[in-house]
Amino acid sequence: MTSLPRLAVLASGQGTNLRALLDAESLGGTIVLVLSDNPDAGALDIARARGVDAEALDAGPRFRNEAAWLARLARAHVDTILLAGFMRILQAGFLEAFPGRILNIHPSLLPAFPGTHAIARALEHGVRVTGCTVHLVDAGVDEGPILDQKAVEVREDDTLDTLTARVHEAEYGLYAKTVRDYLTRPFAIEGRRVTWR
Ligand code: GRF
Repeated sequence: MTSLPRLAVLASGQGTNLRALLDAESLGGTIVLVLSDNPDAGALDIARARGVDAEALDAGPRFRNEAAWLARLARAHVDTILLAGFMRILQAGFLEAFPGRILNIHPSLLPAFPGTHAIARALEHGVRVTGCTVHLVDAGVDEGPILDQKAVEVREDDTLDTLTARVHEAEYGLYAKTVRDYLTRPFAIEGRRVTWR
């Protein structure tokens, strides 16, 4: 019997995406560790409540402490990393240790609105359609090859709260589905284009 991929989730905030991943029926892998740069992150409580190892680690300025994080990930035999609201930019050590094995979810249809406050900026910009994107992480911010996206209509009476709620709802389903695809289906990357086989 082959063992399932061992996943770590890195999260800085409330952790609703983490919760959706933990609740997903089948991810194609097992979440064995949750790490946060924020000791008060709700994500840590969510993980612990479900019996998943969870720790806050100091990232240091410009992620200078990445070696400690990589050592913790190695100790848990993690082979794939899922970013879920992780507010730090991963440095070269992470990308070298997990080549093509780091996924991120972003609350816009990339390449529109990368970076922070993506939902608010989409609303202010007046776009009629926004959504969410799951992509592979490279050295850029929200820039790696796109694995999948889900569109969300912007309504004329939307407020930041109502639009945020619908984008988050879309994220939960998309992230679990895309992680499962990534771990269970062969795919090829040509240039930036991902083709599922
Ligand atoms: C999500 O919108 C995610 O796309 C973005 O940060 C937010 C995290 O929310 N990267 P949560 O902590 O998962 O609730």
